[in-house]
Amino acid sequence: MTGKKLHIGLSLSPTWLSGDAWRRPDSRVDEIFDSDLYVDLARRSEAAKLDFVFKPDSQFLDPATLSAGPGFSSLDPTILLTTLARETSRIGLVSTASTTFLPPYAVARQLQSLNRVSGGRAGWNIVTSLDGQANFGLADMPSSQERYARAAEFTSVVQKLWASYPHDALRLDRDNGVYADPSAVRPVDHVGEFLSVAGPLTVPEPASGQIPLFQAGSSPEGREFAASVADAVFAATPDVDAGIELRNDLGARAERLGRTPDSLVVMPGLSMFLAPTSAQALELHRETHARMSRERKFEFVESTLGIDLRGLDPDGPVPIDDLPDPNRPVRSRTHAELVRRVVLRDRPTVAELLERPEIVASAHWVVVGTADDAVAQIVERAEKGAMDGFIALPGGSWGSLGIFFDEVVPRLVERGLFRAEYSGTTLREHLTPA
Ligand SMILES: Cc1cc2nc3c(=O)[nH]c(=O)nc-3n(C[C@H](O)[C@H](O)[C@H](O)COP(=O)(O)O)c2cc1C
Repeated sequence: MTGKKLHIGLSLSPTWLSGDAWRRPDSRVDEIFDSDLYVDLARRSEAAKLDFVFKPDSQFLDPATLSAGPGFSSLDPTILLTTLARETSRIGLVSTASTTFLPPYAVARQLQSLNRVSGGRAGWNIVTSLDGQANFGLADMPSSQERYARAAEFTSVVQKLWASYPHDALRLDRDNGVYADPSAVRPVDHVGEFLSVAGPLTVPEPASGQIPLFQAGSSPEGREFAASVADAVFAATPDVDAGIELRNDLGARAERLGRTPDSLVVMPGLSMFLAPTSAQALELHRETHARMSRERKFEFVESTLGIDLRGLDPDGPVPIDDLPDPNRPVRSRTHAELVRRVVLRDRPTVAELLERPEIVASAHWVVVGTADDAVAQIVERAEKGAMDGFIALPGGSWGSLGIFFDEVVPRLVERGLFRAEYSGTTLREHLTPA
């Protein structure tokens, strides 16, 4: 261990209602479009001294999925987080905004507004998105390469907009009647390959400086983009080796681009099915995913791996000779690569593949067990350099979430792996080692 503390965020997705978990009498599923549920979560996260709460986002809804659960139904992330800003004082508030669909001026302004009203606690999860093009007037989803090229230009424009109205432009000189120094406010005058934006922004940047940037998506283009701008990466690394590879690679890319490797905080998603005993945790995991149909699993394998397993012998191996070119266009190369890795490494049978967490539940690191099991795996990943922290994605029930707050986090504090108190007030301060 380096003695560095971990960084921990909580996803507000809410992952503990996924699968069949929303059907539990105490799930609070009827509250997911109210603010109280999220206020509770943000307050608990702040009491546990987490770095941030984080709202992933999709701007696409497939009605067919709604019979089985809320799926991607959700409130607008930045509006939701603005509600939380008034109810908390230290916790970071990381919103998600798509560079593929939205105009940069609107994104820059909303995030800077959240940043101002929260006292420097906003973060931006930069996504290039997976679905939703038809909601924004696009006939087809642009290729991954084009999405990342636009994301790079978009992000630079947003950063210029934030800087266009600097904090020290404000004079507030009542005696002489000078509100601000116009010469300190700089237009952006950007005309690029994808975007034309004049600026300046209407919201002055606070003294705490630029909003931290998060990124998710780990194809080569995604990694290069993250290494060039991100302060933190939301990673899908289901095993230790994938974590080490990603963290080393991002560090090396950052260094090549003139940044220090530890300027980038790598945070895998950690899906946790926690219960007082291992047997109860296994049962929680099983119950949560019991209803996922075989057909849905086949569809998922077909869309990520590119082969149709229907009609094959369930006890026969997944045919690796039929795997298509890994560079073919897919919705997310990160997810496609994770499933491909499982098949090439473990050589599962068709039946075994259909039961893997990467298929039934999540492409993330999954712990099914007790608080001790979760702590042991977190310590192992930290010691092996497979992460700088994680984004908690509790699964199965509120009980599982409660064990995370009441047992896992305190044990990490006891071991010196996580802060007992905040030392700063802004998200950037939380993400910077003390
Ligand atoms: C862990 C993870 C989380 C993501 N979260 C979101 C999200 O909340 N909203 C969204 O529109 N896209 C999300 N994406 C999609 C990415 O922004 C990106 O468009 C996609 O992964 C394709 O890039 P890739 O080929 O580098 O994976 C996520 C991707 C990953 C891997």
